[in-house]
Amino acid sequence: MSRKIKVGIIGAGTIGSVHADAYKKVANAELVALCDILPDKLAEKAKRHGVPVTYTDYKELLKNPEIEAVSICVPNNMHAPIAIDALNAGKNVMLEKPMCLNADLARQVIAARDANKKVLQIGMVRRQSTEADIIKKLIEDGRLGDVYQIRVKLIRRRGIPGLGGWFTTKALSGGGGIIDISVHALDLSMYVTGLWNPTAVSAKTYSKFGSPIKDYHYVSMWAGPPKMDGTFDVDDYAAGLIRFGDKATLSFEVAWACNARDENCIEILGDKGGVKLEGSNVVLLTEYDNRPADIKLDYNAQRDGFADELTKFIAAVNGEGEVPATPEQGLIMMRVLDAIYKSSDLNKEVEI
Ligand SMILES: NC(=O)c1ccc[n+]([C@@H]2O[C@H](COP(=O)([O-])OP(=O)(O)OC[C@H]3O[C@@H](n4cnc5c(N)ncnc54)[C@H](O)[C@@H]3O)[C@@H](O)[C@H]2O)c1
Repeated sequence: MSRKIKVGIIGAGTIGSVHADAYKKVANAELVALCDILPDKLAEKAKRHGVPVTYTDYKELLKNPEIEAVSICVPNNMHAPIAIDALNAGKNVMLEKPMCLNADLARQVIAARDANKKVLQIGMVRRQSTEADIIKKLIEDGRLGDVYQIRVKLIRRRGIPGLGGWFTTKALSGGGGIIDISVHALDLSMYVTGLWNPTAVSAKTYSKFGSPIKDYHYVSMWAGPPKMDGTFDVDDYAAGLIRFGDKATLSFEVAWACNARDENCIEILGDKGGVKLEGSNVVLLTEYDNRPADIKLDYNAQRDGFADELTKFIAAVNGEGEVPATPEQGLIMMRVLDAIYKSSDLNKEVEI
């Protein structure tokens, strides 16, 4: 019999609010506590989401024996330390992306999960979409044949988030566009194709737009406005190639900012067919009567991916299913990201 699981959210920022709204749609979850280091923001968010108990120190929240599960929605540098403390305190953990700052920390988080035998899920929300389901099924049904190349383009013309704040400070974020947005597209690509064996990377990252901060002209900014006296020491553009043994490759171009038009697209090429995901549009590139033909797949796109991922998290806590994005896959992702930055620094291909 499913139990009602009492939940706390650590980090009451933008994504913390998204989790708070999503938990309301999860039948077996009850959001009972919220934590943030900023008291004013904490009070405002607790009121907005109707959360009865607040903490400014996450360690105090972890002492609350009623709370069985936590969502960790803080800046990237705090993902691993809070996740490890939460697991050691006997809590089940929903950890936002990216899993943490690097692969070494990811291994430590997994060790804490194993030592405490708790549920640990990574926040790869793009898997919780109908387009992901459609593409995964097309591939599993053999409609693409042998998949040998994936092309990822995530281009923002001017889309640096939180300029000058934690997003653009390497010690707090671990990196720029690569660690922030490429994780979603790389994870989705590996998830739908099942290519979880990346072996080598050749990449270059650049840092061209974020500094000096006063010269950055933007239209809108996630987690803005800019902090004029803040730091920008991360990548705002990267390009590269990931090898999956001798079976497949993935080329990527990821920009928080560059002088090109916005693009958000993943193309998967197989020897029988291809698929293009652009925004949430799915097009199957195939043949009809021996002629190249495109099939645009229409579907009902109304779905709350965050509610779906938290529903699966709470089900896993109740012992009613597996987490949809495992920390082992999160570790593979962190090894890829480490290799991208290392390849860029060394100016050559590196093994993963
Ligand atoms: N899944 C997604 O699509 C998605 C989207 C955006 C952000 N994220 C991830 O969510 C995380 C947070 O991003 P955001 O945009 O909400 O950032 P944000 O800056 O809006 O919020 C972070 C909050 O954490 C608080 N905080 C910092 N240190 C803390 C600590 N030690 N204890 C408690 N609270 C602390 C900050 O005061 C802030 O309110 C990041 O890791 C980001 O990558 C995921």
